[in-house]
Amino acid sequence: MAKQNIYDNEIFFDGYTKIRENKNNANILFEMPALYSLMPPLEGKTILDLGCGFGEHDMHYIHCGAASVVGIDISEKMLTVAKAENSHLKITYLHMPMEEISVIQEKFDVVTSSLAMQYVEDYKTLVHDVYELLNDNGLFIFSQEHPMNTCFSGGDRWTRDENGRKLYANISNYGVEKEWESTWFIDHVKRYHRTFSTVINTLIDGGFAIEKIIEPIPSEKMLEEHPEQDDLLHKPDFLLVRARKTN
Ligand SMILES: C[S@@+](CC[C@H](N)C(=O)[O-])C[C@H]1O[C@@H](n2cnc3c(N)ncnc32)[C@H](O)[C@@H]1O
Repeated sequence: MAKQNIYDNEIFFDGYTKIRENKNNANILFEMPALYSLMPPLEGKTILDLGCGFGEHDMHYIHCGAASVVGIDISEKMLTVAKAENSHLKITYLHMPMEEISVIQEKFDVVTSSLAMQYVEDYKTLVHDVYELLNDNGLFIFSQEHPMNTCFSGGDRWTRDENGRKLYANISNYGVEKEWESTWFIDHVKRYHRTFSTVINTLIDGGFAIEKIIEPIPSEKMLEEHPEQDDLLHKPDFLLVRARKTN
């Protein structure tokens, strides 16, 4: 199955890096706090991070007391930054696609992934592989682009009033599960759209119990400080899930 490695494209990588350098990016304001809120106490836990990117999360997990973290990523450029900025004796970075995690010989207390699963075509196999890599009662905790976000592929993302104010998010073909190409820094960025029910039911069918779901939306306080984030009142950008392996 074709695997995309868009983060090694220089133009994409530079654009993405600039977004992440902005201290008011949506990852920092919404996605990371939500993801971390789903984590159990990490003292002594072994963790596998799928699509670890710059490794910021992995260093955070070590600071929370994790015994070890394995971070894997398909992009050499992302891993180069991870190794330069977030190295630790207890963190191992592996250059591999998450489609190949079944070769890993170790088991983990927590398998996590932050905003990478929408790049994987065969979600069902991935869920199966994660199940096999978890210790009994282990947790699979991930964020992904929200299904309302992955079914759009062109034109203006928003319907606006005469002053350019956003009125509605444009959604198309929510029920069509397939590869969608869009433009994000460069053309032809591929993501795989799955409905909310497919995301959840694949986990249930794969032997997981769903413990919590978060679709981050801004609080009133957040909107006072970051009024531009009112987009998320119309359309969630992120979906986060905590699922536990059942036996
Ligand atoms: C949006 S970035 C998120 C990086 C990091 N998890 C974070 O939240 O800061 C997505 C990451 O997933 C990686 N990725 C995409 N497809 C992948 C695949 N099939 N296997 C492993 N990593 C993948 C990309 O290279 C990139 O580093």
